[in-house]
Amino acid sequence: MTLPDNLDAIAADLWARLADAAASGRSAWHTPVVGTADGDVRVMVLRHTDPAAASLRFHTDARSPKAALIGGGGPVSVLFYDAATKLQLRCAGIGKAVSTGAPADAAWAASAASSRRCYLAQLAPGTISETPTSGLPAAAEGRVPTLAESEAGRANFAVITVALTRIDWLHLAHNGHRRALFEHSGDGWAGRWVVP
Ligand SMILES: Cc1cc2nc3c(=O)[nH]c(=O)nc-3n(C[C@H](O)[C@H](O)[C@H](O)COP(=O)(O)O)c2cc1C
Repeated sequence: MTLPDNLDAIAADLWARLADAAASGRSAWHTPVVGTADGDVRVMVLRHTDPAAASLRFHTDARSPKAALIGGGGPVSVLFYDAATKLQLRCAGIGKAVSTGAPADAAWAASAASSRRCYLAQLAPGTISETPTSGLPAAAEGRVPTLAESEAGRANFAVITVALTRIDWLHLAHNGHRRALFEHSGDGWAGRWVVP
């Protein structure tokens, strides 16, 4: 794979790939690893990329520990790797978890009933159970709820938006790896080459 050899073009390329990753379940970058301030990490589905705002959006259960931890402005890291393109992105930014308001309403409205189903769980994610369980009510077990039935999950739904402040881009190549660091300051984004 041939990649551009100037920083502006690399930035444009990585944002285009992040936009594609949100839209395509086939992209390796569709399911990055998301880290929180407590040192915990987990796989999440990248739901939306906004290159103009340099932000990423995820969906989660508002009752989850990570939603509480991120709250109104917690540090979040997002790690992407695509073994086919040999591209790694190590992103850092400030996350915000919200379950009410226009962005959460719009994301919920655009979610399919099959995606909404997990928000019907009766107890919060992470609750200890005496038996193996999905946490879903019996009526939602083993079937996709109707859109009307799925509305019961709305109160448990939250969006996490991560405004990125740092992107460490790495391309592995036999004839020489390449690494670039993009950082956001008051003056906007600035990129530099870094020894891999
Ligand atoms: C492929 C894959 C995709 C996942 N997508 C999400 C997601 O979009 N949102 C989410 O909250 N959890 C998702 N999970 C589950 C999380 O990895 C994690 O187990 C769960 O959210 C509990 O994390 P917590 O204890 O940090 O809240 C996904 C897991 C896998 C394996």
